[in-house]
Amino acid sequence: MERIRFLQAGYGLFGEGWVDLLLRSPHATLQGVIDTSFEARERFEKRFGDRGIPTFQSIEEALQKIEAQAILITVPNQFHHEIAEKALATNLHVLSEKPLADTFENAVKIYQAWRQKSHLVYMVSQNYRFKPEIQALRKAVAEGICGNLGYIAYTFHKAWRFGGWREKMEYPLLEDMSIHHFDILRFVLGREPQKVIMESFNPPWSWFQGNASATGTIIFAGDIRVNYFGSWVSFGKTTSWNGDIFIYGDQGTLSLENDLLFFASREGKKEGLPFSKHETDGRIQVLEEFCSAVRENRQPLVSLPDNLWTFALTCASVESAKRKTWVELTELMSLVGGA
Ligand SMILES: NC(=O)c1ccc[n+]([C@@H]2O[C@H](COP(=O)([O-])OP(=O)(O)OC[C@H]3O[C@@H](n4cnc5c(N)ncnc54)[C@H](O)[C@@H]3O)[C@@H](O)[C@H]2O)c1
Repeated sequence: MERIRFLQAGYGLFGEGWVDLLLRSPHATLQGVIDTSFEARERFEKRFGDRGIPTFQSIEEALQKIEAQAILITVPNQFHHEIAEKALATNLHVLSEKPLADTFENAVKIYQAWRQKSHLVYMVSQNYRFKPEIQALRKAVAEGICGNLGYIAYTFHKAWRFGGWREKMEYPLLEDMSIHHFDILRFVLGREPQKVIMESFNPPWSWFQGNASATGTIIFAGDIRVNYFGSWVSFGKTTSWNGDIFIYGDQGTLSLENDLLFFASREGKKEGLPFSKHETDGRIQVLEEFCSAVRENRQPLVSLPDNLWTFALTCASVESAKRKTWVELTELMSLVGGA
């Protein structure tokens, strides 16, 4: 099996874990690591200096010296588009951390750059949808266990201190966390969002400068209503990273609670739904899918055109929080053209 030759841009909080995955994967080889920070490059060299993997300060320097097939982007959100566009210009396949970009405008720029090179694989790592409990939830919905779907209650509570750029973002929860939940909703329902109204706020004890909490309603095709509440500063009763999801239909309620699956019938009889559970945050599966797509010369499961919808829902939620009105997804998706 051909191993895909990777460059990795970004060796920070999440990038460290990605290096471990790339080095252990039978699908990939790591050719070089790019990070603008001297401290990050030194940290990499201390851990992996014996492997002879070079580090670079810029993508330009790396591209001059290394012949790679693909780039893994794991730099902060605001730098995704600049690295993606340079990588596409030199014919690299791209595996990018979520979110696709920092603004919808920059996402459209990436999309337009990719359209000129659409033989290249562009995948966004929405790793949550590859977790076994999310796959099982989707399967149960597809099998129609709830009957006709009506509405969903989605809650997410965590208290997490990252430090760094997230604590300075205007909408850290919506832009960096809820995006996972929005992608789960699209994946599980197999439907696209149509409009959203979102309120965003910052509880008095929050350590984030921007809004660490949000609540609102999303309407999906088929008039399925999602009531969403998320907070990154909740103490006491918290949820898993996936959050708790209750899906109501005319035959009962399907739920994901603390990453376990349940079904409660119309009569209220609740039982667990077994599924094969294994420890993963989904990234191993993301990497495998990306490398297979490169080898097989096909588009991956979370392709760029697909992921524009998840990112559009995130941007529409932020826009709604700013305007304090409903925002239609078509407002953003009409900017894309041909997606
Ligand atoms: N899928 C998930 O569950 C998940 C979890 C955490 C982070 N992420 C995503 O991963 C990305 C990175 O997040 P993080 O927490 O690791 O951030 P981080 O700040 O800890 O690390 C980012 C690294 O990128 C480097 N960098 C910045 N600009 C650069 C550039 N232009 N070229 C090369 N290197 C550059 C920084 O020096 C830093 O070392 C973000 O997009 C984030 O949303 C995803």
